[in-house]
Amino acid sequence: MKTQTLALDVYGTLMDTTSVKMILRDMFDEKADQLSELWRSKQLEYSFRRGLMNQYVDFSIVTQQALEYAVQQMGLNTDEDQRRKLIGSYERLSSFADVKVSIVKLKNHGFKLYAYSNGSKSAVSDLLKQAEILESLDGVVSMEDVKSFKPNPTGYKYFNEKTSTEKSDTWMVSGNSFDVIGAANYGMKTVWLKRDQNSVWDPMGFEPTIVCASLFEIAEEIESYLKENEHGKN
Ligand code: 2OP
Repeated sequence: MKTQTLALDVYGTLMDTTSVKMILRDMFDEKADQLSELWRSKQLEYSFRRGLMNQYVDFSIVTQQALEYAVQQMGLNTDEDQRRKLIGSYERLSSFADVKVSIVKLKNHGFKLYAYSNGSKSAVSDLLKQAEILESLDGVVSMEDVKSFKPNPTGYKYFNEKTSTEKSDTWMVSGNSFDVIGAANYGMKTVWLKRDQNSVWDPMGFEPTIVCASLFEIAEEIESYLKENEHGKN
């Protein structure tokens, strides 16, 4: 079997974006969950819109502007200090519980492992370092190098160029369906990490190669897919 490369999405896949809820709850009580969801969905919407408009800014600015919108939309008052704390919480997200162990397992199975994110290389590296994941990876690839955001196909192509890999041997692993669809559109194989069993797949004419509930299963799932589908090809 040829060496397989995994492009591991960061926000919502390795790192839990809902971990900001703790600090939001301290500030906004029962409005915290709604604010967290609005903040995240606006962050993604702004990244899509900026991608379409060719108006790239660092992903941290996108996050900041989405927060500004979300607090205003919900009629919440925040001072400078609170906003700093909230933005700071995004720089200290927790990793999902399955990440550390699974990364080691995937490495032992011979996969090449890269983080691949909209976030800047330095922001993502800091996050992964805090979570003690960075040292187990082969590298970090950021959309900042192409000055756009996922799901622009230029980004997935850049991933392959930067890591000297082929799309036919690359798997986008993401908890974000738009990211999975973006990678499938470019031609990578994909794992949709369905962390929330209630999440609904976007019916846009693309399907994930594999669906898994956690990172624990993906090594075996990918290996058995390759055995069934690509036997004799390599
Ligand atoms: C990431 O690129 C899409 O937020 C996701 O890390």
